[in-house]
Parts: sequence; structure tokens; C-alpha cells
Amino acid sequence: MSKIQNIGVLTSGGDAPGMNAAIRAVVRASLYYKLKVTGVLRGYEGLINADFIPMDEKSVANIIQRGGTMLKTARCNEFKTPEGRAKAYENLMASEINALVVIGGDGTFIGADIFSQEYNFPIIGLPGTIDNDLEGTDLTIGYDTAINTVVSAVDKIRDTAESHDRFFIVEVMGRDSGLIALRSGIGVGAEAILIPEAKTGIDDLIERVKHGRKDKSSKIIVVAEGDEAGGAYNVGEILKNKFPHHDIRVSVLGHIQRGGSPSCADRVLASRLGVAAVEGLLEGKTKVMAGQVNKEIVFTPFSRTTKHIDAMQITPAWLKLAEILSL
Ligand code: F6P
Repeated sequence: MSKIQNIGVLTSGGDAPGMNAAIRAVVRASLYYKLKVTGVLRGYEGLINADFIPMDEKSVANIIQRGGTMLKTARCNEFKTPEGRAKAYENLMASEINALVVIGGDGTFIGADIFSQEYNFPIIGLPGTIDNDLEGTDLTIGYDTAINTVVSAVDKIRDTAESHDRFFIVEVMGRDSGLIALRSGIGVGAEAILIPEAKTGIDDLIERVKHGRKDKSSKIIVVAEGDEAGGAYNVGEILKNKFPHHDIRVSVLGHIQRGGSPSCADRVLASRLGVAAVEGLLEGKTKVMAGQVNKEIVFTPFSRTTKHIDAMQITPAWLKLAEILSL
């Protein structure tokens, strides 16, 4: 019989739509397998402060459709210290929690990996981030909703851009990754997309604007937050100086990209992975993230999940596609 009797579940780092669906799946799967399940509030901070709440079927009722995370989330510096992790371990032992499911992004998994090794503590991760920048899953929970939020916002911007014959520089999230920008940029028919991985650069953009079609009434330039051009306002200033006859506006979409009701795809992904995490723990898996690759559930060691974005969906073929379509 598995030694696991009480699974703790937490969300950590930036929130993402679908985290609630993942929490619900972890809780319901734990109960299905006759385990106790405990919610940990505010990610690793909650481990350190023993902010624990017992969960049952009802505590996750009516949350599958909600954005954000009912368990709250935080980025916790104390957990990066050995002293912080020691407190977390003591609290887990005192509450008889003997495994964890952590839902978050790369920072979450780095912390989980260290803690799990230090204390030989079973942990499975679920990919919860709008950035989609994790190896070991085709999609992260929240990404699909976020790119659809971007698309619906930029469609509205296009309406007003067309009416005024304007250029819009639209900044989207992705501190270290251009996946949101690339995917949503293709989806909105952007005239240019700036992402850190492509290193397109401002000079290239200036050339494209200079030689681009003159009969286009509006232009949408999507800039990833992490692009080396330095953000949409910077790009806007440079273009305004270079092209004073163009009417140029900047729009930073910001945190609306992280909120809102999750798409069906995110709900289903979160539900499937949440159940897989509990089953994985019962099978003795640890220090791995549950992901979905080519429709199959795959468990990838934490050490291989983080920041391998070059190997993922940003390939020369995608960049060429964006360029062909931007004519
Ligand atoms: O990690 C997800 C993310 O949305 C990034 O794309 C963004 O840079 C960051 O979170 C912003 O986080 P916050 O404003 O919560 O610190």
C-alpha cells in the first residue's frame, strides 16, 4: 500500500486561468482514492506559515469555471532559503501531509525540486502558467485562455486602428518567452511580431515599416514583454521619431491576460492532469511534472521542465509563417 494518505495542494507564482480546475481535479481524485487532501494557501508561503485548510468534495464545487486560484498564490523568497524550507517541512510533518501537488511555472518547480531532494518528499507538479514556457507539455494550463483573451482584445484594437488609420504597438505578457506574442500575433493577423527568441530587433522592424505595404490602413505590431526592444512604449517612441507622419498608439494589455474564465481546453487539460498527478503520486512518482504531449500523459523530471523554450514551438517555420502572413 502507498504511504501517501494526505496530499497537500498549492498554487504558486503567477496565477493562470484553469488553476481552479486543476485544484478541483486534485481534490476530487484524492477523495476518489480515499485519501485526505489539504489546501495550502498562498503557495510556498502557506507551507512556511502552516496556512492549511482541509478540503472536501464541496470545497471545490462551482470553481471549474472561475479564473484566478481559490488557494491564492504568491512568489515566496523565504522558500529559497534552507531555513524557510525547514519550516515548511516541519509544518507538513506536524499536519501529517505526506505528498504535494504544486501547480505553477518554472520558479515553482525549481523550489519543488530542491525541497523534494532535501527532504525526500514526494511532489508532482502541474504546469500552471499563461506563458507556455515549460518543456514536457505541449500546452500549459492557462495559455489557451490567455491567447484567446489577447486575440479578443486586439480584435477590438484593430477596429479602432482601422477607423483612425493608426499603427498600434501592443505589448503582451511573457517575461522570458515570446510564445503568447507569436501565437496571438498570428491569430490577430499582426503586421509584425517582436519576440525575444527571434531577435528580430528594432532595426528590422523599422525596415519592415519603411518597405511595408502603403495601402494598409492599420498596422498591429505585437511585442512580447520580454523582447529586447524594451517594451511597447520604447518601440512606440522609436517608431514615432522615425515615422512622424504615422499616427502611432501603444497599448499594454497587462494582467487582463491572466484573468477570466478558463477556456474549455484549459479546463479539460487541468482536469486530466490533476487526476494524473494524484495517480502518479500513488504509483510512487516524484520530482516530476505531469504534462500532455501528443495527447498522452507524460511525466518529466522537474530539472528538465524549465526554460527550454528554444526547443519548443518557436521554430524557424513558425517565424516564417508569421512573416509570410504579415505582407
Ligand atoms: O509568469 C507569468 C507572467 O504572467 C509573465 O508573463 C509576466 O512577466 C509575469 O507573470 C508578471 O507577473 P507579476 O506582475 O505577477 O509579478
